[in-house]
Amino acid sequence: MSKTAILEIDGKKYEFPIFKGSENEEAIDIKKLRDLTGLVTLDPGYKNSGSCTSEITFLDGELGILRYRGYAIEDLAENATFLEVSYLLIFGRKPTAAELEKFENDIRKYTLVNEEMKSILDGFPKTAHPMGILAALTSALTSFNPKSVDVENEKDVYCAVCKTMGKFLVIATWTFRKNMGYPLNYYDNTKGYVENFMRLMFEIPTEPYKVSQTVIDALDKLFILHADHEQNCSTSTVRMVGSSHAGLFASISAGVSALWGPLHGGANQAVLEMLEEIHNNGGDTEKYLAKAKDKADPFRLMGFGHRVYKNFDPRAKIIKKAANEVLATLGVEDPILDIARKLEAAALEDEYFKARNLYPNVDFYSGIIYRALGIPTDMFTVMFAIGRLPGWIAQWKEMRENKEPIGRPRQIYTGSPLREFK
Ligand code: CMC
Repeated sequence: MSKTAILEIDGKKYEFPIFKGSENEEAIDIKKLRDLTGLVTLDPGYKNSGSCTSEITFLDGELGILRYRGYAIEDLAENATFLEVSYLLIFGRKPTAAELEKFENDIRKYTLVNEEMKSILDGFPKTAHPMGILAALTSALTSFNPKSVDVENEKDVYCAVCKTMGKFLVIATWTFRKNMGYPLNYYDNTKGYVENFMRLMFEIPTEPYKVSQTVIDALDKLFILHADHEQNCSTSTVRMVGSSHAGLFASISAGVSALWGPLHGGANQAVLEMLEEIHNNGGDTEKYLAKAKDKADPFRLMGFGHRVYKNFDPRAKIIKKAANEVLATLGVEDPILDIARKLEAAALEDEYFKARNLYPNVDFYSGIIYRALGIPTDMFTVMFAIGRLPGWIAQWKEMRENKEPIGRPRQIYTGSPLREFK
């Protein structure tokens, strides 16, 4: 007999089925709750509510597990490329070599961004935050691609996916070039996706540009590690906006806005700001470690601990190795990075941090790599967005294909009763 849950209200009992996922997670299925009882649940932040079923990503925070489509993140980071992982997330299966080549070539068909987009970019002040520009430009892409995606048509969906993957990368780097006063760059269709990212960012017309394979490999890994994280704030936003049948670009643009917030994608920026603060105040890491442990002091060690991963962040383990390789290859001498190393070593030996399982998270190391590559702090969240793009697309596609209803939470009204307006 399948398991059920009994809810008793005013002496009356209601029975609800328990839904079991493929990794044995269980949920009380309350789809009929309001119909049967007239009540709704109250769960701000949805901490106890599954908003959907999904076949894309599995995460177990206690055990430090992250898997895309059943493949361990460690396996993917070691053996796959970012575009391969993107295909896997979006289309649900590992591409064959021919499919992967076709995917990369088809993305290339859409790497040219309409020149008129440049005048929109021109309208932003130089001081604008790159995430604000990215959200606006992504939304603007809708105007240049007004035909809505027919989700019933496989070819149409595939074309929309390639278009989004191609154009988003280019406009993401334009936000940086605008800020730097550099001429905008074009994608080079003879080169790979991640190599193009570096070119699009840093290549200037006055000198040749070469990027090391170690850097490309590290970035590829970083993008893979950020590619999906199930129903987080930005992903839920993409699904929610898409549930009204808004277009893909509009839904992704909403995801960018959600990611921008300091409680979500902004944490890697906070790590670097903290390291800079420690440096500017004399570089005394012990002092900051003591501050982090002092309950009377609100200071926390940024880049340590995680809301979901309670033993270790599986992504941090992978990226720590890549960070070491990048730093060694580039031979970067940077006092900020020295502080990061000292802080990491001290915290890992410290009883307070050990007792609470506070290990460096993915943002601790990603910020270090980005800094070593010369990526400015306010671009860190844009880097996150580039990595998260295939996850957003996959989740949007799954939501539409599953014919999910429009997202429409209920509320409990706590305002004034009826009153007269005189
Ligand atoms: N520095 C010092 N103490 C900490 C820290 C920290 N970074 N994180 C947690 N603690 C302490 C906390 O004070 C508490 O101590 P006690 O048990 O004595 O009261 C204990 O550890 C448990 O902490 P918590 O606040 O219950 O943990 P949480 O799950 O609510 O918070 C967190 C998780 C990520 C918000 C928190 O660890 C934190 O603020 N970390 C720094 C910010 C950061 O790096 N955020 C990025 C997370 S990764 C982003 C992503 O994957 O999207």
